[in-house]
Formats: sequence, structure tokens, C-alpha cells
Amino acid sequence: MSTTLFNLQQDHIAQLQRAYTAILTDQGFDSLAIYSGHASVHFADDHMPPFQTYGHFMHWVGLADVQHSWLIIQPHQRPQLYLYAPADFWHLPKHLPEEPWVAEFDVHFCSDKISPPLVGNAAVIGDIERLTSNAQQALAAEKQPEPLVKALDEIRLFKTPYEIACVREANRLAIAGHQASQAAFIGASSELDIHLAYLAASRQRESNVPYQNIIGMNSYAGVLHYQHYDLSAPKQRYSLLVDAGRRFRGYCADITRTYAGPDAPSLFGELVTAMHGLKDELVRCVSPGVSFVSLHEQMHRHLADILVAHDLFQGTAEQAVAEGVTRAFCPHGLGHSLGLQVHDVAGLRHSDGSPAPAPDNHPALRLTRTLAPGMVVTIEPGLYFIEMLLAPLRQTSLPINWRLVDRLSPCGGIRIEDNVAVTESGFDNLTS
Ligand code: GLY
Ligand code: MN
Ligand code: MN
Repeated sequence: MSTTLFNLQQDHIAQLQRAYTAILTDQGFDSLAIYSGHASVHFADDHMPPFQTYGHFMHWVGLADVQHSWLIIQPHQRPQLYLYAPADFWHLPKHLPEEPWVAEFDVHFCSDKISPPLVGNAAVIGDIERLTSNAQQALAAEKQPEPLVKALDEIRLFKTPYEIACVREANRLAIAGHQASQAAFIGASSELDIHLAYLAASRQRESNVPYQNIIGMNSYAGVLHYQHYDLSAPKQRYSLLVDAGRRFRGYCADITRTYAGPDAPSLFGELVTAMHGLKDELVRCVSPGVSFVSLHEQMHRHLADILVAHDLFQGTAEQAVAEGVTRAFCPHGLGHSLGLQVHDVAGLRHSDGSPAPAPDNHPALRLTRTLAPGMVVTIEPGLYFIEMLLAPLRQTSLPINWRLVDRLSPCGGIRIEDNVAVTESGFDNLTS
């Protein structure tokens, strides 16, 4: 472990102690129990789906796979971790990492599933609906108090230097996977083989990925969250889109790259280059005080410029935005907050906790905040040929070059996604 991460983590825990003490005191709570959550076995079986520890629990310990465990936080007290560690010869017991947070906690290994010890006016948060009804009734605490959860979400939105270092490290590991994916595509591999090359190079098993790898070739590059992997490579190789991440100590990378294949029209390669340029330009605009909604609108204006410059739209860029043409070519938002969750908390609220929903004409936007130092966001402009969205435009007289659209549609689409921290003076691209 590097000294830097060691010191940064100590500072992170100290900052969490201060923030939780202030919030619990302010809201009149003497203790808070945070439940890790747990996975349920498949019906009538003993296998479980992949699991992710509750975010506010991970915020302290950085472990994404802790189940049936409790964290007790009290103002000005050492955190108490009740770690479920049954005597079990079927499984390896959970080992604690050699990280400085461990020395700051009192750790209790529990051979049974416990009810957390609470004192005074207590609150409990986490996925407690999954507990048995007896276990839920035993919790003498206010359950999921909304002002408390919102206040804790708010501190998650602003990352400490330790958290930013973790996202950077997650990016470094994920980039190795992306490089291997590109090489596998050049070598005419199938989607499944590209997926396996990604996992191997980014050093992770599939059950640990922060979200299911999106690895789509040809028209599947235009399926936004494509979830299938073809076992054999297609005869014609037009395109590959890889949207894949990595966790490091709980923190996520969320990176997308798109490649033109040997059978793509040269225009597709030019559009990939243009979309890289658009991503870089939008990253350079990341700065404190910038409205993410405005940045999203800027993406649409520049996407319109790209459509016009490449003869896909034969009117003006202003018309392409005003008539909803750019929204048909890019139906998702510019990006989202990134942290312990890929789509991290508090993106659609004001700082006082009141709702800040996405604009009516951009319903998929997941972040409406004004950028401020410590936020980490994705910047992920896209350009797709999705017939379901383009079909209504075919019924209009809008000057869309359908001949070119039809030539490009076997390429599916393009998304380029980087992870960016907002600094005091601008931005820090964690992906580059
Ligand atoms: N990988 C999911 C997203 O980019 O939001
Ligand atoms: Mn992504
Ligand atoms: Mn994303």
C-alpha cells in the first residue's frame, strides 16, 4: 500500500467522523446503525446473485462484499463494526484488509446474525426490508429517516482526496481492460472473448464488476445497455462499443470506448474521432459553478454541429436541436455522479435535499447539480442509430440524410466516456 493512500484514508475517516458527528448531533440522534445488506439465495437453491454492500456502509470500510454486518456510529465515539463471521467450513471467513481504517474501528467478529446494539435516540439505515420481520421489529430505532439519509447522501456527492485517488486507481485498472478489448477486437474476437479479455487484463472476476460489461459489436453498439455476448465473431466487423468498469476499494470506474472496425464506412471512423473531440471539449468545460444541465445542452448543440458537418443533417445546427433531432441520435444524459455506486446518490436534488428533477425534454439526465469541487462525474456523449427513435423522424420533412443514416446503422452507435473530478480551479480527468 502506498503511503499516500494510507495517509489519505486516515484523513478520509477523520473527515467522515466529523461530518457524521455534525449531522447526527444536528438531527438529534445519539446513535446510527448502518446495515450492510445481504443477498438472497435463488429460490430453493443455495446460490446467490452478485451483491453490493450498502453505499453508506462502504463509505467507511470500502468493502463491496460485506453481508449481514452492522456499523454503529455515535457522535465523538469510535465506530463499531459488527462483522458477520460465522464458523463455516464451507466458505473462507472474511479477512479485513491491511488498511488504516481498521485501527480506527472497534471490530467485533460475530458468529451469528445479530441485532445491532443501539443507544438513546437511534436511527437505522440500509436495506433492512430484507431482514426477517422479527429482526426488523427488534430494531428500536427510527427507520430510514429521510433528512438523515439525504444529509449522508450529500456528503457522498463530494469526494475526499482519498476517494478521488480510489476512482483514479479504478480507472487505471479499467484502462488495462479497455486496451486488451481493443486488441481482441483487432484480432477478430467475439463479444464473449472481448469480455473475457477485459476481465483478465483488468484483474477482476465477473461477479465483482461494478456493472455488467456492455460489449456490443455492429448494430448492438446501439443498444445502450446491451447485456448479451455473442459467442462467435460476426463476418463483417463494423464497430465495437465497450462500456466497462472496475472497482477499487469500493469506488467505481465507468469508461466507454468505441472503435471502428475494418468493414465500417470511413465516415463512421470520422464520427468516432469527432465524438472523442466532443468528449474532450466537454471535459475541458468541467469547472466549479458550471450547471450540468447547461453542459448537457452544450453536448446537444455540438452534436448538432457534428451532424451538420458530416452531412447527416442538411439543415442548421439550431434546427437539429430545436426539432429534437439530436435527442433521437442521443437519448441519454451527458453523465452522472460517480463514486461507490456507478450512478451515485444525490444527483437529482438541490443541496437542501429538495428535488431537482431532470428537465422535461431531457428525462434521462441523472445529474442536475451545479458542479462544485470534490464532485466526480462521467462525461459520456453519444451518437447512435436507433431505429425505434429515428422512425418517427422518417415521417417528417426534416432534412435528415437518410441514405447516410442507413449506411451507418449497421455500426450501431458511438459512446465515449471519461471520469472527471471537479477541482477548485477546473477539472482533473481521472481516465486520461
Ligand atoms: N455504464 C453505465 C453508464 O455509463 O451510465
Ligand atoms: Mn458507462
Ligand atoms: Mn456512465
